[in-house]
Amino acid sequence: MLNVQKAALFAISALGGLSNAKDIYVSPTGTGTGTSTSPYGSIQSAVNAAAAGDTIFLKAGTYKPTTNIQFKTNGTRTSPITVRSYQTEKVIIDGENLPGTPYGLDESLPNKERGIFHIQYANYWKFYNLELINGPYGIYARDASHNYYELITTHDNYETGFQIEGASSNNTVLYLDSYRNRDPRKNGESADGFACKSGSGEGNVLRNARLWDNVDDGLDLFMFGSPVTIEEVYSFQNGFNRWGFSNFNGDGNGFKLGITGNPPANHIVRNSIAYSNAKKGFIDNGNPGSLTVERNTAWNNGDVGFNFRSSSSSLKSNIAAVNVGSAQVTLVSTVKASGNSWQSGTWSNSSFVSVDPSTLQKARLSNGRVPSSEFLIPKSGEALGATTKADV
Ligand SMILES: *[C@@H]1O[C@H](CO)[C@@H](O)[C@H](O)[C@H]1NC(C)=O
Ligand SMILES: *[C@@H]1O[C@H](CO)[C@@H](O)[C@H](O)[C@H]1NC(C)=O
Ligand SMILES: *[C@@H]1O[C@H](CO)[C@@H](O)[C@H](O)[C@H]1NC(C)=O
Repeated sequence: MLNVQKAALFAISALGGLSNAKDIYVSPTGTGTGTSTSPYGSIQSAVNAAAAGDTIFLKAGTYKPTTNIQFKTNGTRTSPITVRSYQTEKVIIDGENLPGTPYGLDESLPNKERGIFHIQYANYWKFYNLELINGPYGIYARDASHNYYELITTHDNYETGFQIEGASSNNTVLYLDSYRNRDPRKNGESADGFACKSGSGEGNVLRNARLWDNVDDGLDLFMFGSPVTIEEVYSFQNGFNRWGFSNFNGDGNGFKLGITGNPPANHIVRNSIAYSNAKKGFIDNGNPGSLTVERNTAWNNGDVGFNFRSSSSSLKSNIAAVNVGSAQVTLVSTVKASGNSWQSGTWSNSSFVSVDPSTLQKARLSNGRVPSSEFLIPKSGEALGATTKADV
């Protein structure tokens, strides 16, 4: 067949594929049927109407659902279902009117009421550029795989901002900002910035995220039995009682990477920073696996920088400096450590080009990444610790 004919056929079949996919519109003031000129008012209506290949566009404004938005259908690998802000419009989904915001101390939060977005048995979805606030969890994705999240912000929720749980694999979370999440229901015991918890599944990735001012830990992989990949994640100022909770239970670690008795989970943590957290920077929390921990920096935390009690983790080219603990690190003797800052002399604030985190905390760049800076770059020029510079 001539190449021209092949190309024409390809174009026709591609159009055929596209023509099945619909665009569905929602607006906070909508009263219509989901078209661009007559959008739905309810995100749930759009989610219910969506099939593989469809795109749901949320128009600018603040949505205030009164029931948790349930995702329970599947896209496919080649035709995922997309939920995104229309163009680059600002979309806020405010969960304050949902049940459980908050329930009383020690009351339980039923599964279906977890998450402004409750994503369960729902695979091949993509989410872009959405802000979820004041919910009973922001994103709660359980038994959900092959989903992709980009530029999601979750803050001031009454539980963890973004949680993956259960049998969940191959999820990618890129450019997450998750902050000031807290749990009055538990006096700070449970609300993290990001958690991938209580479950298993390969291929979950968190990359270029900022997790700060959360009541418990910045990141928690409690009881997750498979490796999670964490790269370019900045976890700071977590674990302080900013809400005046009595019997405060916040843990305040930057990165909590397991739990004693977990099935061993060989998590990978690279190029990430824990700073100014109430307690420790990076901890395996007794995870008996072999974690790979490379080019990370723990600075100015309220306790040790790295606390690894597991038998065989590998710590390479990390920095622990200016942490306020009995030591910069506490490592069981069987941890394999090489080329880390604590193996080469004394480090202080003056060892760094900059100890000013303010650039890291500024608005993201148009490509989604956090702005790069000299924050915690060794003055010596040694290839040690994390860098926010994209060229590494
Ligand atoms: C979505 O896919 C999962 C995994 O194949 C399956 O268990 C579930 O039943 C599917 N959901 C629907 C609504 O078809
Ligand atoms: C995850 O993705 C990889 C690569 O595409 C694939 O080989 C693997 O089967 C997926 N895992 C699951 C549980 O679907
Ligand atoms: C290091 O610098 C930070 C930021 O300026 C400051 O808060 C901290 O107290 C300093 N620590 C020491 C030991 O100098």
